[in-house]
Amino acid sequence: MAMVTADPKDVPQVASFAFTAENEASARALMAKYPAGRQASAVIAVLDLAQRQQGWLPRVAMDEVARLLDMAPIRVYEIATFYTMFQLKPKGRHLLQVCTTTPCWLRGSDDIMKACRAAADGTVFSVQEVECLGACVNAPVVQIDDDFYEDLDAASLGRVLDAFRRGERPKAGPQIDRQTSAPAGGPTTLATGD
Ligand code: FES
Repeated sequence: MAMVTADPKDVPQVASFAFTAENEASARALMAKYPAGRQASAVIAVLDLAQRQQGWLPRVAMDEVARLLDMAPIRVYEIATFYTMFQLKPKGRHLLQVCTTTPCWLRGSDDIMKACRAAADGTVFSVQEVECLGACVNAPVVQIDDDFYEDLDAASLGRVLDAFRRGERPKAGPQIDRQTSAPAGGPTTLATGD
C-alpha cells in the first residue's frame, strides 16, 4: 500500500486540538482495553477518533494523541503517515476510496476512477486510490466513508453520488440484484429442484 503524505504547502495550520469530553472518554475507554503501560496499543483507534472529530488529522491532533498515550510524537506521525486511512490534509465531506487492484481493474475501475475524480470537488467529495478493499467478488468497489459500494458501473455510481449530494446515505453493498456476495442472478448451487 502506498504511503500517503501531504505536501506541507497544502496543509493549513491548525492552532490547537482538544478532544471533546465525549471523545476523550471514548479514548480513555479504548486505552483501558490494554494492560497498564501498553496504552500505546490504542494509537490507531485514538487517531481514528481524532480524525472523526476534526474531519482530518492536523499535526496538533497527532500531538494530542501522543500526549494522551504517553508516546513520542514522532511515533504517532510514523503511524499516521503510513496508513492510507489517515487523512493528513482537509478533505471533502465524503471520501471516495476507489479500489484499482486487478479484480476491480478487470471489472472497470478505470471508468469508476475517472468518474470519481470528476466528482471530487474537495467540498462534497475527495478521492483516493486504494489497493484491494477485500471485496473483490463484488468488483468494482468504492468505499465511501465507512461503507462499501459494490458491483458499480458508471450509471449506478452516478446514482450513488447524486444521493450523497442530496444529503442522503444510499444503501451500501451491491448495486445490482445480488444478495451480499452470492452469485448474481440467484443461487447456482444447492438450489432447490436441482
Ligand atoms: S481488487 Fe478491488 S476489492 Fe479486491
